[in-house]
Amino acid sequence: MFNSAIFKKLEKNDFRTLIGIEIGMRQHRWVPAEMLPSFSKLFAAEVRYRIDRLLGFNLVKKSVVPYDGYRIHFDGYDALAVGALTLRGLSAIGDNIGVGKESVVYEGVYDGEPVILKFHRAGYTSFKQVARQRDTGDRNHWIFIARRAAKREYEALKTLAEFSSDSAVSVPAAIDHNRHLIAMSIAPGRELSKTAVDDPDWFLDEIIEQIRKTYSAGFIHSDLSEYNVFVSPDGATLIDWPGYVTTTHPQAEFLLERDVKNVLAFFNRKYGVTRDCEEVVGYVRV
Ligand SMILES: Nc1ncnc2c1ncn2[C@@H]1O[C@H](COP(=O)(O)OP(=O)(O)O)[C@@H](O)[C@H]1O
Ligand SMILES: [Mg+2]
Repeated sequence: MFNSAIFKKLEKNDFRTLIGIEIGMRQHRWVPAEMLPSFSKLFAAEVRYRIDRLLGFNLVKKSVVPYDGYRIHFDGYDALAVGALTLRGLSAIGDNIGVGKESVVYEGVYDGEPVILKFHRAGYTSFKQVARQRDTGDRNHWIFIARRAAKREYEALKTLAEFSSDSAVSVPAAIDHNRHLIAMSIAPGRELSKTAVDDPDWFLDEIIEQIRKTYSAGFIHSDLSEYNVFVSPDGATLIDWPGYVTTTHPQAEFLLERDVKNVLAFFNRKYGVTRDCEEVVGYVRV
C-alpha cells in the first residue's frame, strides 16, 4: 500500500539512493553496498545514512548473505513512481479503491482533475517462485515485469483512444505513466458486475460494439469480463488492458472467442439474455 506519510518525509538524496538501487537491480538481485555510491552519485557516508532511513521506512530490503546487498521493496518503487508523477502534475493521492490480483488502485488528483492511479503488481507472485533459482540480477524481477505491464497498458489506452472519433474505443484516457504506475481518467459509471442494468440488451449491444471497434483497431482485450467493463447511461467503457494481444497473435481467435463468451455468459446468467456466440464473433470480425 502506498504510504503518503512516509512519502512526504522523503528527501532528494533518499530518492537518489533508491534510484541507485534500481539501477543496480538491472544487474544484481541484491545490489552490493559498495556499488551504491557510484550508482546514486553520492558519497559513501551519505549512502549509509540514506540506506538506514530507507530501511527504517521499509522501502528497501537488506541481505547479508552472501554479501551486504540491497533491493527495493515495492513501497520504495511506489515512492519512485509517485515522485516522478509529482514533478509533472500529480498533486494528491486519495483513497484506495481496489486491490486486484494484478494491481492496486487509488484515486488521485492530476492537473487539478480527479484521476485513477493504477500501480501494477504483475509478476510479484511468480517472481517469488523463481527467486531461489537465481542469484544474479535479472529482467524477470517483478519490478521490471510490472513496469512492462504498465507501459503496455498505457500504450494500449493511447492507441485505442486515438482512432478517429467514430472508431475510437471507449477506454479511460491515459494521462501519464512512470515505472509501474499509470494515471488515467475515471471510467464513467460502475463496474458491470456491481450494477443492475434496466436494459440488458442495449448494454450488451454497446459492449459488443466496443469489442468490434477494438478488433478493427487490431486489438483483442483478452481479459474481458463483467469486472473489466464499466457501464453508465452513455454506454460501456472497457478497462484493464495490460493483457491485450494483437489480431495477428497465434491465439487471437481463441482469445476473442473467450472474451465474447465471458460477456455473453454473464448476460445469460444474470439477465437471461441469449445470443449466439459464433454470430457475435462473426459480427466483431467483419
Ligand atoms: N479508469 C478507472 N476508472 C474507475 N475505476 C477503475 C479504473 N481503473 C481501475 N478501476 C478500479 O480498480 C479495479 C482494478 O483495476 P483493473 O484495471 O481492473 O486491474 P486488475 O483487475 O488487473 O487488478 C477495477 O475493477 C475498478 O474497480
Ligand atoms: Mg480488472
